Amino acid sequence: MSNFGQKVLEVKNLKKFYGHDSHLVEALVDVSFSLERGQFTSLMGPSGGGKSSLLHLIGGLDRPSQGSVCINNKCLENMTDNQLSAFRRQNLGFIFQFFYLLPTLTALENVALPCLIDGQPLSEVSPRAIELLGMIGLAHRIHHRPDQLSGGEMQRVAIARALVTDPLLIVADEPTGNLDSKTGALVLELLQTMAREQGHTILMATHDANAASYADRQITIRDGMLESDRRHRPMVLKKVHRTPQLDAPHREPRHHV
Ligand SMILES: Nc1ncnc2c1ncn2[C@@H]1O[C@H](COP(=O)(O)OP(=O)(O)OP(=O)(O)O)[C@@H](O)[C@H]1O
Ligand SMILES: [Mg+2]
Repeated sequence: MSNFGQKVLEVKNLKKFYGHDSHLVEALVDVSFSLERGQFTSLMGPSGGGKSSLLHLIGGLDRPSQGSVCINNKCLENMTDNQLSAFRRQNLGFIFQFFYLLPTLTALENVALPCLIDGQPLSEVSPRAIELLGMIGLAHRIHHRPDQLSGGEMQRVAIARALVTDPLLIVADEPTGNLDSKTGALVLELLQTMAREQGHTILMATHDANAASYADRQITIRDGMLESDRRHRPMVLKKVHRTPQLDAPHREPRHHV
């Protein structure tokens, strides 16, 4: 893919304070780094160190106290709330520890949801949603509701939902925190494939060194500051775990900016 190496995210002197006066919490003191296209990066560090706060700011779910987050050269601080919501839906995918699927919707409808909110009809979104569900091995579960799925299946649906808009950047907050180790490995291999073969840029917070070993780079933050930033050889994809669909020719990701 020609655009590998392109800078997708730039975080500059990011600060986040919660509360004020004697209750002031300096969650992020001063954090700067950038991520390139197709890079799978783990975000590690002790509990309370600022990982989720950082992901929320990068994902435009919260505003920084100071500093800047730019995605594909578009800086979030220059956007109104409405512009930010649209930008978020079109350029970012979120994966959370607790999935946050809507219980009354089927797997297919949950995956399609970000596009439906953006005004696309289900008939238009369905082929892409079904393709993604097939890629993650859930072709036989598309009409199941979350309460009819296992934890690992729910997390895979959440991953498909994060991918449905072909986001430039995927932000994952402990995506394997609720999964057994085998299902967790499948999810991590899927994320690794998404980065390597489809050029998605992924930033994943985790406490698990094994999960982090699937990434190509490890950023550690402690007490709201960047402690280390290391590139390493990731755990190699094991062919045996891949679904046949993952070997199919991939689509060129769409670009919205
Ligand atoms: N909404 C909030 N109001 C006040 N303080 C907050 C808020 N959210 C987070 N904090 C504080 O900011 C600090 C960083 O929290 P954050 O959730 O970013 O840490 P984390 O690295 O994700 O931790 P964990 O590994 O436990 O998920 C913590 O001290 C936390 O108590
Ligand atoms: Mg957290």
